[in-house]
Amino acid sequence: MEVVIVADAEAAGTLAAGIVERLLAGKSDSVIGVATGSSPIITYRRLVEAFDAGRISFADAHAVLLDEYVGLAADHPQRYRRFVHEHLVDHVDLRADHVHAPDVDADDLASAGPRYEALLTQLGGVDVQLLGIGTDGHVGFNEPGSSLRSRTRIKTLTAATLADNARFFDHPDLVPRHVMTQGLATIGDARHLVLVACGTAKAAPVAAAVEGPLTASCPASILQWHPHVTVVIDEGAASGLVHSAYYRETHAGKPSWQHY
Ligand code: F6R
Repeated sequence: MEVVIVADAEAAGTLAAGIVERLLAGKSDSVIGVATGSSPIITYRRLVEAFDAGRISFADAHAVLLDEYVGLAADHPQRYRRFVHEHLVDHVDLRADHVHAPDVDADDLASAGPRYEALLTQLGGVDVQLLGIGTDGHVGFNEPGSSLRSRTRIKTLTAATLADNARFFDHPDLVPRHVMTQGLATIGDARHLVLVACGTAKAAPVAAAVEGPLTASCPASILQWHPHVTVVIDEGAASGLVHSAYYRETHAGKPSWQHY
């Protein structure tokens, strides 16, 4: 796991976007796993700028959502598909039919998870999965206690996540209780995981994920089990790490030939 401590959220987003930009330059039909929430917004802004500057095209690429709320109308402003359109898809040449999400509107929600898994397989797997981390240590919406081998399925949000996400809704009671999320094994199948976290509210979950035990109690600790992970954090999110001096020294001495 490569832990990169940067000055601020702008630098974190720029670094994460650079990873996607490089991926697209080498593989135009990349499958990009897209997270939602505050953490990836600057990353998407930088990607739109790279597209505007003519450095990248998404014409052959696919975007796959990490998760989606269950129970919101298809045109609800907080639907994650809408979020991804608003922050990325509507500003680049990514085809709308190349944007995929768990089918939370299906009559049979139990089969929607396996169908999403089949789709990911059909696309050839995810090349880079962008991730945020919840204050309770979730990735995707795999809340504490999620099976380390879980696949896409319905999950119930914790009180902590409901409270965190209330800021996006008119009233806390309007936050959906249920989501459909890629599982921890699904996320682990992506070839490169890039987690962005900023601010002191993320210090404890980042420390648990990076330096704590591998445990379902901190679902983001599955990062430790993956062969290619980049954790991009600002000073606030890094403030709970015991080995931050080592991560800084390692990054400062990163060989010029070695990419993220
Ligand atoms: C979003 C997602 C969540 C968020 C996490 C952090 O698709 O899966 O895991 O990444 O809740 O959210 P923010 O970035 O808003 O702090």
